[in-house]
Amino acid sequence: MNSTPRKRVRKAVFPVAGLGTRFLPATKAVPKEMLTVVDKPVIQYVVDEARAAGIEHLVFVTGRNKGVIEDHFDIPYELQSMLEERNKTEALAILNAALPTAGQTSFTRQQAPLGLGHAVWCARDIVGNEPFALLLPDMLMQDEPGCLARMMEIYNQTGGNIISTEEVAWEETHKYGVVEKGEEVAGGFRIHGMVEKPPKGTAPSNLFINGRYILQPEIFEILETQTTGAGGEIQLTDAMLTLAKKQDFYGFTFTGRTFDCGSKTGFIKANVAFAMWNSEMADEVREDILELIETVKPV
Ligand code: UTP
Repeated sequence: MNSTPRKRVRKAVFPVAGLGTRFLPATKAVPKEMLTVVDKPVIQYVVDEARAAGIEHLVFVTGRNKGVIEDHFDIPYELQSMLEERNKTEALAILNAALPTAGQTSFTRQQAPLGLGHAVWCARDIVGNEPFALLLPDMLMQDEPGCLARMMEIYNQTGGNIISTEEVAWEETHKYGVVEKGEEVAGGFRIHGMVEKPPKGTAPSNLFINGRYILQPEIFEILETQTTGAGGEIQLTDAMLTLAKKQDFYGFTFTGRTFDCGSKTGFIKANVAFAMWNSEMADEVREDILELIETVKPV
């Protein structure tokens, strides 16, 4: 095993080129990453998580119909000057807080949605020869400090590659990528193996890979030659398994809440959870939601 590289993690990759078929027709013209949880698009939460973890450059791998994501992170001059004229200082501050600075974003296109592994590979030239964070934007996480910030703490001690995991009921493990847990180290653990959607009863643990990674750039060389795996897509897990033969992989167990906003139920739960997290609206929303649960019946 090579010694574990530990360069600083400055860049984060956000693959946003997926088709979002589980959320049709909502995602026909609006990217799923732009669907709103309380008052922000899902992608904004994930970008905020990355920036709070010290990420300096945001790399978006976009696709067809995703141009609005680029617009969201651009300066809206007309809106800004209108808010200034009308003295809407609070709205202006909210608008400005969401903005990356000049040169802090890059956008590249995955011309066809050939899988997550392929989307990550599309970012190779922008990331270059340095470690990077990878955040799946439909996995929305609620915790303070954020998931990536916690992973950075481990990375700063171990270097190498870090994968965030989370406990799931054993009978659900066949739906996920699952890791094999080794000895404890630096607030995390060594990963001895990974398996994508293990057949029922064969999972090596009940820790699933939940959408946050810190990866070394050697993953790109492996993705370059990767053939299609499960679902006819270029799978990231297959490439990580190859890299794990040469470099260390560590796991982190996230104990906050994760919502799969690519699914309808996950998205609804995220809206409730983030409304409850907001001290200004929690009381009112709680009352109304409880009343709705009691009174509205399925048709
Ligand atoms: P998903 O499989 O959850 O996304 O990929 P999807 O394909 O958009 O969703 P469904 O299953 O059709 O509803 C996880 C992440 O990887 C990105 C997606 O945008 C999502 O953030 N992805 C996936 C790509 O960027 N390119 C791909 O080819 C596949």
